[in-house]
Amino acid sequence: MTTKEKLIVFDTTLRDGEQSPGVTFTTPEKLEIARTLSRMGVDVCEAGFPMSSEGDFDAVSRIAKEVGPLMEGREAIGKPMVITGLTRAIERDIQRTYDAVKHAPLHRIHIFHATSDIHLQYKFRISREEGLRRIVAAIRFARTLCDNIEFSPEDAARTDRAFLVEVLTEAIKAGATTLNVPDTVGINLPEEYGGMFKHLIANTSGADKVIWSAHCQNDLGLATANTLAAIQNGVRQVEVTINGIGERAGNTSLEEVIMAIHTHPGDSFPVFHQINTKLIYKISQLVLQTSGMAVQPHKAIVGSNAFAHESGVHQDGVLKHRSTYEIIDPAEVGVPSNSIVLGKTSGRSALKMKLAELGIEVTSDEALLKIFSRFKALADKKAKVTDHDLIAIAEDQKVSG
Ligand code: KIV
Repeated sequence: MTTKEKLIVFDTTLRDGEQSPGVTFTTPEKLEIARTLSRMGVDVCEAGFPMSSEGDFDAVSRIAKEVGPLMEGREAIGKPMVITGLTRAIERDIQRTYDAVKHAPLHRIHIFHATSDIHLQYKFRISREEGLRRIVAAIRFARTLCDNIEFSPEDAARTDRAFLVEVLTEAIKAGATTLNVPDTVGINLPEEYGGMFKHLIANTSGADKVIWSAHCQNDLGLATANTLAAIQNGVRQVEVTINGIGERAGNTSLEEVIMAIHTHPGDSFPVFHQINTKLIYKISQLVLQTSGMAVQPHKAIVGSNAFAHESGVHQDGVLKHRSTYEIIDPAEVGVPSNSIVLGKTSGRSALKMKLAELGIEVTSDEALLKIFSRFKALADKKAKVTDHDLIAIAEDQKVSG
C-alpha cells in the first residue's frame, strides 16, 4: 500500500452554504457552527464573504478572534483551524477580507475570478488577457498581506483547457498556495472532473508547489462522485458543506465524502482524514435547525431514513446481524441507533420485536399471526403504522381472542 497523504477538509457551510436561497445565519449561529467544525477536526473554515455586508464582516472577524485560536478536539491535528473569507479579485475587497480574517492565528485569503469565456464575455465583458491581468494583480496584492492565498478560477469546468493552464501557471508565479478548480455549474461527470485535474497537474508549471483543491456544485447530483474522482487524481483539499447546502442544488456534502473515505480504508483513496465522525449527526442537526433547510429523509448518512429499515426481508436480516444491510454503524456518525419502521412491507420478526418493546406479551404463534394480519391490513391503508395503532390492535385482539 502506498503512503497516504492527509486530506485537507475545507468547509464552506458559512459561505457557499449561506448562499442557499433563503438561508441567513446570525453571528451567534455562525460562531456555534464554526466552533463545532473546529472541534470535529475541519482544517479550513470559510467563514463568509466579508465584503458582502457589515454583518458578515463582523461575523468573520469574530470567528477569526474567538474560534481561530481553539485547540479543543484538535490535539492529534496539532494546529488550530485556518479561517478564510472569500473575495473578488479587487484590491479593496481583498484588503477588507484580510482585515476580517487576520485575527486568527492561521488565516487565508480566498480570491476568485471567472475564467470561462461565457463569464468573461457576458458577466465582465472583458477579454481573456484582461481577466488574466486582474487575477495576477489580485494575487500579487494579496501576497503583500499574507502568505496563505487560495485562488479559484470560477467556472473552471467550462474554461478552455489551454487558457486554464496558463491562468493557473501565472497564479502560482504570482504567489497562490492553493489552487481550487471549481465545477461552478455542476456540469462535469466524475471521469471528466478527475481527468481535468490529471491534465492540470501534469501541465501546469509549478504544480508540485501548491495544494490542488476540488469544489463541486450538485446540479446533476454528482458533487460527491466528482469530488472523490478529484481525490483519486491528485486533489488534496476538498471544499464541502454540512448537509450539502449551497447555491441551487447545493455543494458536495462533508459527511458523504468523509464517510466514503472512512468506509474504504484500503487502496481506493490515496488520502486519510482526521474528522471526528462521531460529531457528524450533531453538526448536521445544528445546521438544519439554524439554516431552516430541511434534510431530505433519504439523504445519505444524515437523513432520518439513513439507518431505518422497513421491508420484512431487511428487518429480519438487520435483527439477526446489523451488517446485513448497514455499511456504517450509526454510532460512528453519532446517530443514537438504527430504527425498525413498521409499514406495508414489514415482516413478522420486526412486529414481534416492536410488540415486545411496547411491553405487549404475545402468548402464541397463532395470536401473533392474527395481530400480523390486522397490522398488514392497516399498513395497506397507512404509510406508517404507529405504536398507538399496534397497541390498539393488540388490545382488540385480546378482547376478541
Ligand atoms: O462555485 C464556485 O465556483 C465557487 C468559487 C467561488 C469557489 O463557489
